[in-house]
Amino acid sequence: MKAFIVDRYGSADRVRSSEVPQPETQEDDVLVQIHAAGVNPLDSKIRSGEFKLILPYRFPLVLGNEFAGVVVRAGSRVRRFKPGDEVYARPAKNRIGTFAEFIAVQEDDLAIKPAGLTMEEAASIPLVGLTAWQALVEIANLQKGQKVLIHAGSGGVGTFAIQLAKHLGAIVATTTSTANIDLVKRLGADIVIDYKKDRFEEILRDCDVVLNSLDGETLKKSLRVLKPGGKLISISGPPDPAFARELGLGWMLELVTRLLSFRIRRLAKRQQVDYSFLFMKASGDQLRQIGSLIETGAVRPVLDRIFPFEATREAMAYVDAGRAKGKVVVSVR
Ligand SMILES: NC(=O)c1ccc[n+]([C@@H]2O[C@H](COP(=O)([O-])OP(=O)(O)OC[C@H]3O[C@@H](n4cnc5c(N)ncnc54)[C@H](OP(=O)(O)O)[C@@H]3O)[C@@H](O)[C@H]2O)c1
Repeated sequence: MKAFIVDRYGSADRVRSSEVPQPETQEDDVLVQIHAAGVNPLDSKIRSGEFKLILPYRFPLVLGNEFAGVVVRAGSRVRRFKPGDEVYARPAKNRIGTFAEFIAVQEDDLAIKPAGLTMEEAASIPLVGLTAWQALVEIANLQKGQKVLIHAGSGGVGTFAIQLAKHLGAIVATTTSTANIDLVKRLGADIVIDYKKDRFEEILRDCDVVLNSLDGETLKKSLRVLKPGGKLISISGPPDPAFARELGLGWMLELVTRLLSFRIRRLAKRQQVDYSFLFMKASGDQLRQIGSLIETGAVRPVLDRIFPFEATREAMAYVDAGRAKGKVVVSVR
């Protein structure tokens, strides 16, 4: 099959199109013909080796972290899926490879594609949808009437998280640039801060939750807008010891995460704020719940651009430029 791969970690020009064997399936795996794959900043971070200590991959490595497609074969222990089903997923972090014609996915990580979505729309959902769900529902337990700040509201995670937070009944504040103010308002943001003109930390007060996807400075400033007992959740680092323990990374890497997050954890503690780092996980169950939200119209996909499969490198470069409004997808079939 055709796939976009790297032979070792390195710069963007290492990504190349290649013929690779179709993935092998285990008894509880489903083989899916991929129709579309979402593109995320994570793809280039994996390509460059940024995650090699915590996510060691074998080469050649097929890139890509989410997809929508059609089931072609189900293993003997698979119960929920059959050939012909339209599905979508973020595969487990050690079984990535969606910039390809086929992928083998464990049944538990897969869900039926939400009705009414195109393959491209469905492929744009899993990674950002699960990230927003795990941050706002699992960790924050966001409640009606609570105030949440979602940084970078116009990005892939932001466009989904704003809609989810509104659905949960929260008051939603977000940061974005002038050009994207209308977009985030249409998605439901109540308070929009134009980061080109204003400083969010001088405007917002008494937030219950902040979802950070930006740099360390923004993370630190975000503490100022939280009330005591509030939650600061970061998806852009620094990783904390709880994350190292959850992944079973061993005492050495747990120590590294302890050092990396020492400052923010200390500052957070002083302000009686709970800091946590989230690295999202695959989950078919959560994708089913997200699918229901999409089917009722509570959340809709926001697509910036669709690239043809041959232009996967260009699609990755477009995402790397950091200006995407919503999601970028490659159409594989
Ligand atoms: N840990 C995890 O599990 C996890 C999961 C998903 C994503 N992430 C990480 O989270 C980050 C965001 O992911 P993404 O998919 O949302 O990225 P993305 O879609 O590529 O983000 C692009 C958006 O960010 C906005 N932006 C850039 N600088 C900004 C600033 N200073 N203030 C406000 N908005 C700003 C841009 O808007 P303007 O053009 O208006 O500036 C653009 O719309 C990435 O680092 C990604 O790797 C982590």
